Amino acid sequence: MLRAKILGLGSFVPDRIVTNDEIRYLDDQHVRGATARTETSDEWIRTRTGIEERRYVPNDGTWACSDIALPAARRAIEDAGCEPKDIDCIILATLSPDIHFPGTAVFLQSKLGIDGMNGCACFDIRQQCSGFIYGLQMADAFVRQGLYQRVLVVGSELHSHSLDYSTRGRDVMVLFGDGAGAVVVGPVETTDPREGILYTRVGADGSGAMDLYLKVFEIKHMPFVWYDATKDDDYQVKYPQMNGKKVFLNAVRAMNLATRDALDKTGLTWKDIDWFVPHQANLRINEAVAQYAEIPAEKILNSIQKYGNTTAASVPLTIDHHRKLGTVKKGDLVLSTVFGAGFTWGAGVFRV
Ligand code: ACO
Repeated sequence: MLRAKILGLGSFVPDRIVTNDEIRYLDDQHVRGATARTETSDEWIRTRTGIEERRYVPNDGTWACSDIALPAARRAIEDAGCEPKDIDCIILATLSPDIHFPGTAVFLQSKLGIDGMNGCACFDIRQQCSGFIYGLQMADAFVRQGLYQRVLVVGSELHSHSLDYSTRGRDVMVLFGDGAGAVVVGPVETTDPREGILYTRVGADGSGAMDLYLKVFEIKHMPFVWYDATKDDDYQVKYPQMNGKKVFLNAVRAMNLATRDALDKTGLTWKDIDWFVPHQANLRINEAVAQYAEIPAEKILNSIQKYGNTTAASVPLTIDHHRKLGTVKKGDLVLSTVFGAGFTWGAGVFRV
């Protein structure tokens, strides 16, 4: 039987660590001032989210989403034992693309030095925090169909350039960090039903679209970067807007159901699964999911404490973080559940 399998894994985070204490002092250029600018505290952020620190790229005009994706992609390709020229399809998930169009995957293809004339296909997908599992489902289907042999799935985010570093934006600003994670998916002939990618399922509910969004522009207006100062739209166009409580409740509900569904459809139990890797939006969301879905505490992997919410990158970044620590071993079976803006959600069961 032909299945799709994760052949390699890699991740990247920038060097600069921004602690909960330091974030209070940052201005819009990420320069630390002498006095605090934002009314928040390490204690508030830790107890409400679990986050201790996050990573930021330099704010020098040289970094874009594809630059964060690049080292993660290179590491995944090396881990898979192949070279960039072997990649025949790129699926890049992000909510922070380099520019409006073209998509970010083509910039990554070029930076990897892949000769586009060899036919390497490039897809950008926009499923926010659910992007990695959506991308993995596409890669799984593509490989099993025989369409591609080496699919690079990347989640990459540059959040630090689009946040409001003032008290007004603190509910969103403290949550997010920069980073990327990537896998290479390829075919494997096997008789083992527990080999490779066992299961993926994704879903969406567009009625929640405006509960978490960042406009940047509205194409229905001309000019399409359009502000109505009387309606405070200037602020709403420039910065992410979030109905935190609604997102929280929907995340717990969807991730609990998606986790239960994954076990039900695969016939697996927690005895069979090595690790549960939830999206990293809020440690309290993950604790609630663990409680409702009755997940053994020793099987749960988080990394939000170190990286904050890196949206599409969070799942492969968390797995790679724990692989570097020696917790996760090659071939371990992971159940991952995600939830993000849209609303979108998904779950996957796969060997890493
Ligand atoms: N520091 C200090 N105080 C803050 C901060 C902050 N950073 N942010 C908000 N507050 C204040 C609020 O203004 C409020 O003050 P008030 O009572 O005077 O009005 C108070 O703290 C309590 O705020 P709540 O909103 O009730 O806090 P809550 O416990 O709900 O936590 C949070 C807020 C962390 C945002 C939570 O709702 C959450 O995590 N929601 C989900 C967010 C999420 O998952 N986002 C990503 C989704 S994935 C994607 O696709 C991008």
